[in-house]
Amino acid sequence: MGSSFLLFPAIFSYLLFFGISMCFYSTIAQQTGTTRHYKFEIQLHNVTRLCHSKRMLTVNGKFPGPRVIAREGDRVVIKVVNHVSNNVSFHWHGIRQLLSGWADGPAYVTQCPIQSGQSYVYNFTIVGQRGTLLWHAHISWLRATLYGPIIILPKKNTSYPFAKPFKEVPMIFGEWWNADTEAVINQALQTGAGPNVSDAYTINGFPGPLYNCSANQTFKLKVKPGKTYLLRIINAALNDDLFFSIANHTFTVVEADAVYVKPFETDLLLITPGQTTNVLLKTKPYPFNTTFLMAARPYFTGQGTIDNSTVAGILEYENIPSENHSKISITGLQLPTLPPINGTSFAANFSNKFRSLATAQFPANVPQSIDKNFFFTVGLGSSPCPKNQTCQGPNGTKFAASVNNVSFTLPTTSLLQAHFFGQSNGVYTTDFPSFPITPFNYTGTPPNNTMVANGTKVVVLPFNTSVELVLQDTSILGAESHPLHLHGYNLFIVGQGFGNFDPQKDPPNYNLVDPVERNTVGVPSGGWVAIRFRADNPGVWFMHCHFEVHLSWGLKMAWIVLDGNLPNQQLPPPPSDLPKC
Ligand code: C2O
Repeated sequence: MGSSFLLFPAIFSYLLFFGISMCFYSTIAQQTGTTRHYKFEIQLHNVTRLCHSKRMLTVNGKFPGPRVIAREGDRVVIKVVNHVSNNVSFHWHGIRQLLSGWADGPAYVTQCPIQSGQSYVYNFTIVGQRGTLLWHAHISWLRATLYGPIIILPKKNTSYPFAKPFKEVPMIFGEWWNADTEAVINQALQTGAGPNVSDAYTINGFPGPLYNCSANQTFKLKVKPGKTYLLRIINAALNDDLFFSIANHTFTVVEADAVYVKPFETDLLLITPGQTTNVLLKTKPYPFNTTFLMAARPYFTGQGTIDNSTVAGILEYENIPSENHSKISITGLQLPTLPPINGTSFAANFSNKFRSLATAQFPANVPQSIDKNFFFTVGLGSSPCPKNQTCQGPNGTKFAASVNNVSFTLPTTSLLQAHFFGQSNGVYTTDFPSFPITPFNYTGTPPNNTMVANGTKVVVLPFNTSVELVLQDTSILGAESHPLHLHGYNLFIVGQGFGNFDPQKDPPNYNLVDPVERNTVGVPSGGWVAIRFRADNPGVWFMHCHFEVHLSWGLKMAWIVLDGNLPNQQLPPPPSDLPKC
């Protein structure tokens, strides 16, 4: 173990610092990289926040879960052992999974869940990615407590395209629920109402001093003056985009979703669930013993209720070791200024600042010509209330959500198995609409009929198809920003705007030179975003809103990318331990 730690002295020191232990236990030399083994034991563990104790699902008894650390080019082997009664499955969010789609993880999409007492080994190689990602459970709302960082260091003897930071610190945002989140979503789906909201936001599991009974559970970042820190910021919240800032400090954004970006400075970050952002924080040349507040709170334009609270943490200039999450006083400290909750203009300006490096070493391989165009509406809708029941959704219906008015129903076996073994009959159909069947004024006055259709419909793409997809928000039941995540690919964000997409006027303004490349894109509230990708990774790839509530309501679909002709363009058969339904 010691020798692997020596590879990353900086990481070693902050691992000790936060008392988090890692569980990779061997490195086997290979030509391209090493193999890193992890074991995830899914077990119940008591955790207390806001003076409320609950017995909850954890990985190895940790909350948040352990860090997965690897270098670009390494193979990662994670054995998940399910010791609880729930079905589980795990997703390595943002990992490209080139020819390893069986390890992608969304339940009933690429695998059947791992049942109680069973295990499954996720085995994948990290190719052409470096930076920060996250892992999380991918079944029902279990990712509320089952989540953690993925840290991908550059290859050995390769440096960052920026000055080497003095230290690296993962900061993962989450949500704390006093209630059992499975009960919350099950009840909501039953009544048709919007689900209850979380009780707090957290930074590395800590809600901080602005909540009742929480002052002794505050994330504290201790820094030395005049140094550069790399903050690996992750939003693992279930249902909320978050603004983040540190009082009197400025960030330099250098990477997003494990792709380097052209550095830019900002005092404020906006990060959607599923997104990651690496920033450099240059500390001031201050004397010791100065403290500043950092804070995050939601960005939201929808009509429902959300958790409108603020998580705060401490940035402390000090070099004397002291008790870490000890009781702290924030009297007299200024909270950083954050945009208003509906700060859509900030959101648009901020997302426009992201640009790919687009250098010879880190090119932006955005498809310049397109084989297939798609236009998907994304938004809310409703489903009829079952007979003999009263529903608490809009006008006595149930809340639903859809893509092109199809609310996606998960099958009872996995889509990838059905596809691979040619058994799609009764599992899915291949008639997902490429364009809305009934066009309307998407961001204007909503149509009278807001009922969604249900189905398990997919789009089939021949290998290497270059795709352009416009994602259009709708104002049905309220315009809202939706963080759309595509599995297995990065998306080039070539254009975005407010109102309805105009196929004549908008494409000439696309950025086909240095568009940012991400795995999760915030569709602007009341607007659209145009993305491109090349379908060069065969498999079944889930695409969905990364708000867990919208995912539950059906804002999801899947792409099937067919094999190419060459052997290295074909998905291998599943591993023998692939779980059965
Ligand atoms: Cu991070 Cu399908 O999700």
